[in-house]
Amino acid sequence: MQTERTAYPALRGRRILLGITGSIAAYKAAALCRLLKTAGAEVRVVMTPLAKQFITPLTMATLSKNPILVEFFDPENGAWHSHVSLGEWADCFLIAPATANTLAKMCAGIADNLLLTTYLSARCPVVVAPAMDLDMYAHAATQENLQALARRGVAIVEPAEGELASGLVGKGRMAEPEEIAAFLHTLFSQAPGNDAPERNPSEGSLGNSGSAPHASSAGPLLGKRFVVTAGATVEAIDPVRFISNRSTGKMGYAIAGELARRGAAVVLVSGPTALPTPAGVERRDVVSADEMFDAAVDAFAEADGAVMCAAVADYTPAEVSDVKIKKDNGELTLTLRRTRDIAAHLGARKGSRLLVGFALETDHEQSNAEAKLARKNFDFIVLNSLRDAGAGFGVDTNKVTFIDRGGRQELPLMAKTEVAAHIAQKIESLLK
Ligand code: C5P
Repeated sequence: MQTERTAYPALRGRRILLGITGSIAAYKAAALCRLLKTAGAEVRVVMTPLAKQFITPLTMATLSKNPILVEFFDPENGAWHSHVSLGEWADCFLIAPATANTLAKMCAGIADNLLLTTYLSARCPVVVAPAMDLDMYAHAATQENLQALARRGVAIVEPAEGELASGLVGKGRMAEPEEIAAFLHTLFSQAPGNDAPERNPSEGSLGNSGSAPHASSAGPLLGKRFVVTAGATVEAIDPVRFISNRSTGKMGYAIAGELARRGAAVVLVSGPTALPTPAGVERRDVVSADEMFDAAVDAFAEADGAVMCAAVADYTPAEVSDVKIKKDNGELTLTLRRTRDIAAHLGARKGSRLLVGFALETDHEQSNAEAKLARKNFDFIVLNSLRDAGAGFGVDTNKVTFIDRGGRQELPLMAKTEVAAHIAQKIESLLK
């Protein structure tokens, strides 16, 4: 069995400042703290005053093995808790759960508690895991605040859909501790030159580690332009019938949304789907593989990179009947012709631009994916296997492996939105 320590090796020796705000999801911060500690990270906890109503400082102090910081100074002895030192100490400031209120204050630069002053002075990467009711999360104010924070380089671990404390069902549940730990693991393992710093044990106290190396920021994609293809294509047989596949577009839409949240200008070339267009994304609707080819090639001319997530038909009817084909008693043979491979076309012309592909395999996953990586000239390929439970069409989760010319990185089962964040993170690090 895999232990927690081996699941997130990049967390070993990291200094993680865990910020907890006043949400019912604060109870998950206890499990998260334990997970980070088990992975070998040092954890300090800063709480907003309201967070204490949801989880006790005693619980968090016991789990983190450090005193909890809430006030600017200790009322007992007047000792000053320096937000600057906290920010300098940390390799990463993780705010989980992050309420709509705290996100809004972060966005506006309000500094009325220790957590917020620490955020404003932190120079390390900042990661937030929002948690709130579905309507608060969907509200334009919250979405715009999240987009603004993402543009400034704050990494967002998207909330999941599910039952909320209010009893309503929707998007707003804080990501599970395992997903957040996996997110941090990716953040640390993908930042260049970013092995865990060797530290002298005496360096452990706050305020004396100003020269400790910081992980490089998650980095906004502001100024970058991306094309994302998503969904299935639909190939007409006649005015009524068509050939298509089971792709719903969820993965591609999540990627487009994630890249936009990080500041990129995104053109989403989409097959027919009922999904809403992600915030800040320009969507170009297509139906057939030929239409997707034209739209993707056109958009790629202006782009810095593309993520080819669509399930493009490999074959399309050689002829489309203008009228509904009538049945008779005999067999019907359809002649299909090959469609053009969009990814291979872009790969042959990409130059220094970034190209990310997907591979959905049912057998010989690794070798098939490697062959595709080479044939289509991808920078990396996201492999998912239909053999993995929870991965594939229609579901909200996926289990993927990144494969590039340097090797492979297997990720645990997680929400598609989380997979999208990992992909965006890898894209950011490759662009640096
Ligand atoms: O060869 P295969 O279809 O398995 O390759 C999958 C990858 O190639 C995906 O990234 C997919 O979006 C892309 N592709 C494409 N155009 C095609 C077929 C696949 O862009 N006609």
